[in-house]
Amino acid sequence: MRPSLPHPRKNIGRWATAALAATLSLAFAAPASSGGEEHSARSYEVTGPRTAAQRTAVAATGASVDAVRGGSVVITASRDQADRVRGMGYTVRALPGPPDRDDGRTATPFDFPPADANYHNYKEAMAEIDADVAAHPSLMSKQVIGKSHEGRDIIAVKITNSAKGAAPGGAAKPEVLFTHHQHAREHLTVEMALYLLKEFGSQYGKDARVTKMLDSRVIWVVPDVNPDGGEYDVATGTYRGWRKNRQPNSGSSSRGTDLNRNWNFKWGCCGGSSGSTGSETYRGAAPESAPEVKVVADFVRSRVVDGRQQIKAAIDFHTYSELVLWPFGWTYDDTAPGMTRDDRDTFAAIGKSMAASNGYTPEQSSDLYITDGSIDDWLWGTQKVFAYTFEMYPDASGSGGGFYPPDEVIARETARNREAVLQLLEAADCPYRAIGKEGQYCA
Ligand code: ARG
Ligand code: ZN
Repeated sequence: MRPSLPHPRKNIGRWATAALAATLSLAFAAPASSGGEEHSARSYEVTGPRTAAQRTAVAATGASVDAVRGGSVVITASRDQADRVRGMGYTVRALPGPPDRDDGRTATPFDFPPADANYHNYKEAMAEIDADVAAHPSLMSKQVIGKSHEGRDIIAVKITNSAKGAAPGGAAKPEVLFTHHQHAREHLTVEMALYLLKEFGSQYGKDARVTKMLDSRVIWVVPDVNPDGGEYDVATGTYRGWRKNRQPNSGSSSRGTDLNRNWNFKWGCCGGSSGSTGSETYRGAAPESAPEVKVVADFVRSRVVDGRQQIKAAIDFHTYSELVLWPFGWTYDDTAPGMTRDDRDTFAAIGKSMAASNGYTPEQSSDLYITDGSIDDWLWGTQKVFAYTFEMYPDASGSGGGFYPPDEVIARETARNREAVLQLLEAADCPYRAIGKEGQYCA
């Protein structure tokens, strides 16, 4: 039996019939995804919430908060969740769905619409990375660090001048981690990873700062933490607005865990995630229950050498809102157990400097709303990695295309983070230098 398509799309009419049947039986053979909550989420503008506590209360319905403005937020929510937000006394207005990029050309299954062809689907991204690695074998190598739920490779690219061993003085090279695409619809973050590979590969030996960093740091790029979600988001030729991974949830027709609520630090502690499988921010059945999170967490733990975590700093790339965020997300407090005043001031100093370079807004992540089980809290809370979350282009105003900016912006909006990335790399040998305390912390 050929399963029926949950949402008929006009693009599909132009697909070759055979390809359509083959693709649909692959994509939709899974048990009863039709009629589940996963296809009824849409985005809304909520006018009224203006404090972090109010936004956290909105998120507590299970909606994801996608953009924060002065007196309003944009959320992705089911009809039920939207009704509950309305019941809180806020004005809730349905927004148009993902932009229609149908320009009349034929859509290809599991690929971006032709109008956005410069975005890379999973296969194209992997091919691009393989080519970069092949072109710069002394600077880059690729490792498969594990598999996604659907069996796609999750990879890490190691970038360093392997001809140069230890840093001056014999210490091991400080390592810096860049992770991308925890959330399926945030495709610009994969382009950010591809930009970093291109830039480091092409500028080594040409740009003095890049050269110095590849000589004295080890850079890890995990370009696609959620390949299944990303492929699902583009599978029909019309963007689906998908956020989570594609793991089934037992006893529920709703698929997916929010990977950025599934990390094993303060998991589910504080009203910053949902226990409902249908929620956009479902935290999963247990910490690291999502295979993609377990794979990346195991990789990070594998960088503990002689009892010391080699990774010193990190950025987890998201879209959108143009923000530089630092931990903690689980508490509104600036300092907490495991976050001293000096730690917090260091996070803020480096964060503000990076934000000054790209024009983003720097703040503690919980200034927006509470999250628990997020990667940056885990990296700092358990590994003492100076871990930031970047929310890339567009800003929160609603004019730049939200999660789906046109491919014309890719070059500009990835290069926009070049300076911030270099600053973090340069700070990684002694982050506390940013507050003038290298003598105390890095001697
Ligand atoms: N928007 C991202 C998410 O929902 C990052 C959140 C950052 N943390 C926070 N407490 N606001 O996962
Ligand atoms: Zn995100």
